[in-house]
Order: sequence, then C-alpha cells, then structure tokens
Amino acid sequence: MVFIKAATAAALLSTLASAAPTATTPQYPQQTSSESFTLIANVTSGDLSPSVQNWSVTSYHTGAGTAYAVLQADTPRIFYANGTAQDLAFNGGTVLSDEGTPATIPAAIVLGGGDSVTDSISINDGKGTAGVGITRGPDPIAIFYAAGGAGFYACEETFAPGAAKSVMLFQKHDVTPAGCADVVLLPQCSAGSGAVHANPALSGCYADVAGIDWSMYYSS
Ligand SMILES: *[C@@H]1O[C@H](CO)[C@@H](O)[C@H](O)[C@H]1NC(C)=O
Ligand SMILES: *[C@@H]1O[C@H](CO)[C@@H](O)[C@H](O)[C@H]1NC(C)=O
Ligand SMILES: *[C@@H]1O[C@H](CO)[C@@H](O)[C@H](O)[C@H]1NC(C)=O
Repeated sequence: MVFIKAATAAALLSTLASAAPTATTPQYPQQTSSESFTLIANVTSGDLSPSVQNWSVTSYHTGAGTAYAVLQADTPRIFYANGTAQDLAFNGGTVLSDEGTPATIPAAIVLGGGDSVTDSISINDGKGTAGVGITRGPDPIAIFYAAGGAGFYACEETFAPGAAKSVMLFQKHDVTPAGCADVVLLPQCSAGSGAVHANPALSGCYADVAGIDWSMYYSS
C-alpha cells in the first residue's frame, strides 16, 4: 500500500513536472472580458512625483462636452469599446464613455496630434478617434492602444492660466519629453454606467490591475 502511494505520488510529480512551464515559456496575467472598463496607469519609465502608478484615466472638463484626459488617483471614468465586430477586428473601433444624467451622451477618446498641451488626449462629446481600443487576441496582454503611435506618456501640466496642475496624457510618437512618465494603460473590468449601448463589444480586462505582480510575468 505504501509502495503504491509512493509510486502514485512519483507519477503525479512527473506529470506536474512535464506540465510545468519552462523558464523560456512567457507567462501572462489572467484576463477576463467585460463591456465596461476603467483604464489604470502602469508606469514603465520615469515616474512623476507624486507617483502616478495605479492612477486612472478620467476627465478634466474644459467646457460643455469637452475635457482633457487626465490621470487621477481615484474617480476613474468608465469606458467601453464601440464598433461593429468588423470595426474592432480591423482597428476601426473607438473608445467611448457615457455622460449626462442619465448617462446616455457618448463622449469619446480623441487623440491629439503632437506634444503640446493642446495636443493632449481629450474625451469629447462625439465620435472620437477611430483606431483606438483594447488589444485583442492573439495579443496576450490587454492594453489600451492607438494605431500609429508608440504608446503614451503622462506629464504634469497647467493647461490654462489659473488652472490646477493636472497629469495630462499624450500619445507618444517619438521621444518622451524630459520630466514626463511613460505609461501603459491597462483595462480594469468594471460595472457599466447603466446606459445600454447600441454596439456592445467585449474587451479583455483585468480584475485588479494594481494587484498584478509583473515580476512573475514576461518583461518587455
Ligand atoms: C508594468 O510596469 C512594470 C514595471 O515598470 C513592467 O515590468 C511591466 O512590464 C508593465 N506592464 C506592461 C503590460 O507594460
Ligand atoms: C489603486 O487605486 C485604487 C483607487 O483607484 C485603490 O483603491 C487601490 O488601493 C490602489 N492600489 C494600490 C496597490 O495602490
Ligand atoms: C459606434 O459604432 C457604430 C458602428 O460602427 C457607429 O455606427 C456609431 O456611430 C458609433 N458610435 C459613436 C458614438 O461613435
């Protein structure tokens, strides 16, 4: 009996050993999917002071239906991917958010052109920039992407005289300006705003972005 148990244990161990990943197998954090998500900053280089690690994308309103996309420690804005299956499969989707009371007016992520404050990323009423979204399979990591860019960075800026300093977001095209932080924006699964969307799409997302221990996973 003891012998059989030991043999079974040995067989089990060898099964586990053969199933265990080798050092060269990349591992990725577990994602699920959701229609709604928030966007959480993961600083990959040159953090700001105070740190913007785990801050979330929200709106800094500058007028009726216009806002800058900024990072804040709390009050994340809820987003969702919009587009037909074809739009999403061919990088033609947009990323929207509901506004108004009740929250039914679509505001969309709008990319800026260059690196000046006025070219920062906005969240404005309307259709938004096509070609932004959450990366989809076979990409093993779900992140916010914009076609034609080299990622994103965040800078502390005062965008108008007398305005409070805020951490504004920019699409990176070339280099990150000195004093700014490279950030990856990761989708965190969220409850919806309550609005019903015409083109519901699922996006990959993480249950708890801040809880991901990147040292256990691939390094880029
Ligand atoms: C998140 O940041 C950590 C630390 O900079 C980095 O190792 C990891 O690759 C980042 N994750 C992504 C998806 O970029
Ligand atoms: C990340 O930010 C959220 C607030 O948006 C907070 O509840 C949570 O404790 C933070 N986690 C870490 C590890 O900083
Ligand atoms: C959402 O996507 C659909 C399908 O492409 C499009 O007809 C609609 O105008 C989009 N909604 C907004 C607010 O951009």
